[in-house]
Amino acid sequence: MTAEVIFGSELAQSMRDEMKEEVSRLKSQGIVPGLTVILIGDDPASKSYVLGKQRASEYVGVSSDLITMPEETTEEELLTKIAELNNDDKVNGILVQLPLPNHINEQKVIEAIIPEKDVDGFHPINIGRMMTGKDTFFPCTPYGIIQMLKSKNISISGKHAVIIGRSNIVGKPVGQLLLNENATVTYCHSRTVDMEKYISEADILVVAVGKAHFIDGTHIKNGAVVIDVGVNRTEEGTLTGDVDFDSAKEKASFITPVPKGVGPMTITMLLHNTIKSAKKSYN
Ligand code: GUN
Repeated sequence: MTAEVIFGSELAQSMRDEMKEEVSRLKSQGIVPGLTVILIGDDPASKSYVLGKQRASEYVGVSSDLITMPEETTEEELLTKIAELNNDDKVNGILVQLPLPNHINEQKVIEAIIPEKDVDGFHPINIGRMMTGKDTFFPCTPYGIIQMLKSKNISISGKHAVIIGRSNIVGKPVGQLLLNENATVTYCHSRTVDMEKYISEADILVVAVGKAHFIDGTHIKNGAVVIDVGVNRTEEGTLTGDVDFDSAKEKASFITPVPKGVGPMTITMLLHNTIKSAKKSYN
């Protein structure tokens, strides 16, 4: 079997075109969705993600504000800035780019953003809402993955979804969203014994470990759907995923590439959440 490639880049573009029209309708009603991104320090990868968010916001018509703060910014200074934005009616979404410098408590910062403006979907209240099957802001990468599966009419209900990786940003929430869609979910991680066994049983395999070519086609079940969340830079400077695309493609029915796969969907769902917040349809 040779898999069909799911280009998140194409789905992202069509969703952004739809959002652009929606934002223009909202603006005619006096609603201007506003996103504020806070970037601390000058990590090149974070800078490049933030630039992508700015460009996409501009395309869709979301008013986007970037606040850059130096690496030495104290936790208190950051919390003060967040409190200001929490009280600013023009700001519908607040995103603090992670990771933060070591002297700042990441969880404290996440919890400082009011849940109504937490367009990342990282606040414990929003995570709790997601876990109990309520509508809320879902974390952007997991939410984007669900959209990609749905765009290809891939059925999730009753399927065995195996997640490799248990980060708070991707692994845990993507498993929860797949469970909400009635998948049977298994999480694998660095302490999992006999990971190959689980990989070989996966109907839907999501790989989010951040290690280039961590998985190849050897153990992948024929016809599996393979979602590669990894973004790794090779020594030559090119981007590559956590999955060895060429060998996995021979086993899978659908597979996402890197780049042009999951990545563009993350920013798209961030804009979706920001528009949702502006419409006050989060309640
Ligand atoms: N750093 C890497 N991915 C993300 C994300 O989705 N949100 C935030 N805030 N920081 C990140």
